[in-house]
This record gives sequence, C-alpha cells and structure tokens, in this order.
Amino acid sequence: MAPVAKRPPGTQDILPADRPYWEALEAAARDQALRFGYQRIETPIYETTDLFVRGVGEGTDIVSKEMYSFSDRGGRSLTLRPEGTAPIVRAYFDAGMQVEPQPVRLFYIGPFFRAERPQAGRFHQFYQFGIETIGDASPLLDVEAIVLGWNWFAGLDIAGVTLHLNSIGDEVCRPAYRQLLREYFRPYLAELSETSRARFEKNPLRLFDSKDPQDERLKHNAPRIVDHLCGPCAEAFHVVKEGLAAQEIAFELNPNLVRGLDYYTRTVFEYQHESLGGAQNSLGGGGRYDGLAAALGYRPTPGVGFAMGMERTAIVLKQSKPLTPLIPEVYAIALEASDELYVFRLASTLRARGYGVIFDPGLARLDAKLRKAAKRGARVALLVGPEEREKKQIVIRDMHSKTQTSVAERELLSTVVQMLGAR
Ligand code: HAM
Repeated sequence: MAPVAKRPPGTQDILPADRPYWEALEAAARDQALRFGYQRIETPIYETTDLFVRGVGEGTDIVSKEMYSFSDRGGRSLTLRPEGTAPIVRAYFDAGMQVEPQPVRLFYIGPFFRAERPQAGRFHQFYQFGIETIGDASPLLDVEAIVLGWNWFAGLDIAGVTLHLNSIGDEVCRPAYRQLLREYFRPYLAELSETSRARFEKNPLRLFDSKDPQDERLKHNAPRIVDHLCGPCAEAFHVVKEGLAAQEIAFELNPNLVRGLDYYTRTVFEYQHESLGGAQNSLGGGGRYDGLAAALGYRPTPGVGFAMGMERTAIVLKQSKPLTPLIPEVYAIALEASDELYVFRLASTLRARGYGVIFDPGLARLDAKLRKAAKRGARVALLVGPEEREKKQIVIRDMHSKTQTSVAERELLSTVVQMLGAR
C-alpha cells in the first residue's frame, strides 16, 4: 500500500541536520533584538481576513492571489497570516501599548503563509524574523531598524549582503509623482508587459517591480521618486542616509525598490544576496509605514520595521559555514538484557550532572553497538556486562583513542569529568 499522504507542495520539513542553522539564526535574532531593547511578541497564526485586505492592500499580489483564507464555523473569514506588520499593529492597539512610553519596540519569529508558486527559496509556509518600532516617526528609528538587521547578518558572519535603499514619499508627494509616472509611461502603454499595464492606473509605482526585459528598458529612463519628494520626506531621507553613513553601512540607492505591500511610506529597504539568484534574492526587507494604523481604523501612529526570510538566510548561512547538531558525548551500552536497567540508571546519574547521554536499548554485538556510538559522534562509551555489574564496575571507552579502562561505579563521575571536563 502506498502511504496516504505526501508533504504538501511549498512546505518543508526542517530536519535535525538543518536545525543548527535555524538555531543560530534565532539566537542571533534574540541577541540583536535584546541589545536594542526590542521585546518578543507572538501574534496568532490566523487573523480576520479584513486585517490584511485593509492593511496590506487589496491590489497587492499578497491579498489578491496569495492568501490562505477560510471560513470558520461561524462563517467568519479568517486568513493564515501572510505577514506580521498588520497583526502587530493590531496587537499594539488591542493591548493598549499606545499609552506606554513610545516608541514600542517589538520582535517576532514565526511562520507565515503565502500561496506563491514554490521555487528555490520560496515556500507556501515560511518563517520570518521581524521587528516593528511603533509610535515614533524619527527617521533615526529607520536607521536603527536597518542597523539591527545589518548586525544580524554580521553577527552570523554572513558576507555579501547588499543593502538597497529608497524613499517612496508619502500621501503628500506620492499622488503627484504617480501622475508624473503615468504621463511618462502612457505613450509606451502598448509596449508594456500585461502585468505592468494592469498596474498602470491603480498603482504605477509597482511598474518598478517588473522583471520583464521590455519594461526594464522603459523603467530605466522613468522619473525617480527621490527627485520628487516633498520637503519633510526629503529631509527624513537625508537623515536616514546620513545615519547609515555615520554607522559606516554602505547602501545602494535603488529607484526600482518599491516593495509589494501598500502600507509603506518614505524609507523602504531590502537586504539582498547574490547567491540566491533570480527573483528570490531578497533576504529581507522593510520600511516605514506611517499610514498603516489609520488604514486599520486606529489613531494615526507611525511605525517602521523589517522582516527577514529565515529559509533564505539559512541557505546563505549554510553556504558560508558548516554547523553540526549538538550531540550527547556519552553512549551507554549494556551487553546483556539483565544489565540494561543498571546502565539506564548510570545514564540518569550522568544526565543529572549535566552530561548528554544516549542509552542504547536492545541486544546486539558489542562491535555493532560501538559502531553506532561512533556514528553518533559520542566521545565516551560506557560498557557494562554481567561481570562488570557483579563487581559494580564500568568499562569506560575513549571513542577517539579507542582505549578503555575499568573503574568502580563510585569513580564513574570523576573519570567522566577527567575525560570530558566538568558540566
Ligand atoms: P516581505 O518583503 O513581504 O515583507 O517579506 C520579507 C521577507 O520574507 C522577504 O524578503 C523574504 O526573505 C521572506 N519571504 C517572503 N515571502 C516568502 C516566501 N513565499 N517564501 C520564503 N520566504 C519569503 C514583509 O513581510 C513585511 N511585513 C516586512 C516589514 C516589517 N515591513 C515593515 N515591517
């Protein structure tokens, strides 16, 4: 009979051999976040669908074609969260964080869901490490977010990350710029790709997202939004660039960077890495979203943040340094069934002192068991047969030098300490 189920497309099992990379990413995330005063928050895996429709935007790819939405038994429309920013702004107001000292700094690590076509580095279920700073419009908080993300990569020794930066203005300067863009592209409408033509009226900025070679050529000479910012947006962008320069963080001004979520205002940024190749070269991205709270029906409240793709960063980390799972150093072997409980107890004694011990159940030839111990990477094997048990002795084998000694039970701990160091 064939197994009843396969792993659904676009999902993956994070296997033990991969976990060390994930643990390194998570530990570095916690470390950086705490250094900057960010506190962890986790919101539900699903939210009401409206939160994303109004927050991320009806016309975005995420909302129009990538959401996993379903009705609950009461007929309410719910959606597996495709991103974390709208949920966190909701949680900020739900918990009354607007009356706490501002800004409120939050971080999160967890799964997100988008029905995009799966490919290398793109999944239906993926994980993000993200931060959100809510309640203060200072552009230095944009710098803080960018630096924190930058430090995350640096702390993981990931080289080759490039920082792409742009400002997409706000509701004061963007409408006029949108009009300017339409005027520029209008004579070429027939030459644009179908996707870009569809975006032309509603959201011409998204034309910059196109990877179509034909669009690419037209994009090249299009007016750039950074040349059409209003006074306050231009001033804020200046502070961001100065701030990054003062931190000695190199960035590339990228007029094509517009990001695929509607809530952004002013600063937007992405961390890209070449080795991922093609469309999936973004390790993470973010920006300022001063209009999001109001779009969700709350008091207007500024915010800025980013989210990093954990799968993509794990791929890059794996290319840069091999990490292996932590394995117990001691392997406990009984030679006969009647010795098993005794060996089980010895293992417990060592665990209580902080050592990792694998107990090997069942009977097999000693050399087969020792091979297993070696394969598991144990440094020390404990061997007990009837003779040892009778004399309350234990054979301790150094798996590296392949030498062994017999010690009394009361000397077990001190011998292990001598071989492996204290725990
Ligand atoms: P985003 O650019 O949509 O931003 O996603 C951030 C990162 O999540 C991407 O750069 C990528 O590494 C990863 N990612 C996105 N979709 C997938 C996927 N299908 N498979 C694998 N990885 C993926 C946001 O989500 C915003 N909420 C970021 C933000 C926070 N902006 C302000 N605060």
